[in-house]
Amino acid sequence: MIFVNYKNYEEGTGENAVSLTKILESVAHETQIKIIPSVQNVDTESILASTSLEVWLQKPEEILPSGISGMFLNHSMYKVENFDDLYAAHEKAIAANLKTLIFAADLDELKKIAALSPTYIAYEPPSLIGSTTTSVAQAEPEIISQAVEIARSFGLPLVVGAGIHSQEDVRKSLELGAVGVAVATDIVKAEDPRKELLDLVEGFK
Ligand code: G3P
Repeated sequence: MIFVNYKNYEEGTGENAVSLTKILESVAHETQIKIIPSVQNVDTESILASTSLEVWLQKPEEILPSGISGMFLNHSMYKVENFDDLYAAHEKAIAANLKTLIFAADLDELKKIAALSPTYIAYEPPSLIGSTTTSVAQAEPEIISQAVEIARSFGLPLVVGAGIHSQEDVRKSLELGAVGVAVATDIVKAEDPRKELLDLVEGFK
């Protein structure tokens, strides 16, 4: 699976967000790989009206739009202040029947968030987020392996992200035991997002 985080990039906002989601949907249908856009709250209505993909939010919102399937929590752009806040936000998401993905910046944090039993846990080292040259899969394979062990000990699927930009990154992440990747820059800022996405999907084959 591939989570595509639109962040607050202009290329992932408004009309662009709708067009990008159409590209994600066509690649998902063609390749049968699960692709999930994680979008800005303001765009949920127009995106939901134009796609059959699951649509996730990038962070908790006061009023949750209907129709969304899941929510990111504790992403580096929207870090929670403390564990109690994370717990409360997670409980609220579960009460709304949403799937959840909680991010961790290191292995200690990963252990703590795993205790909440989200649908997915994710490891994203902040220093590599946004890199177009070095991915977590290239730079930190041993840490990914340890993250996979932690995730498995809690019975949870692990997603990895930060600098993912090639099919080799995806292949390596899966070989190490991750179930998928989270990616932003390589897709959302791409001149040809479809081409980049098709390249990443090759890593699943
Ligand atoms: O959630 C995915 C995101 O934080 C990774 O960003 O730009 O390194 O793919 P990027």
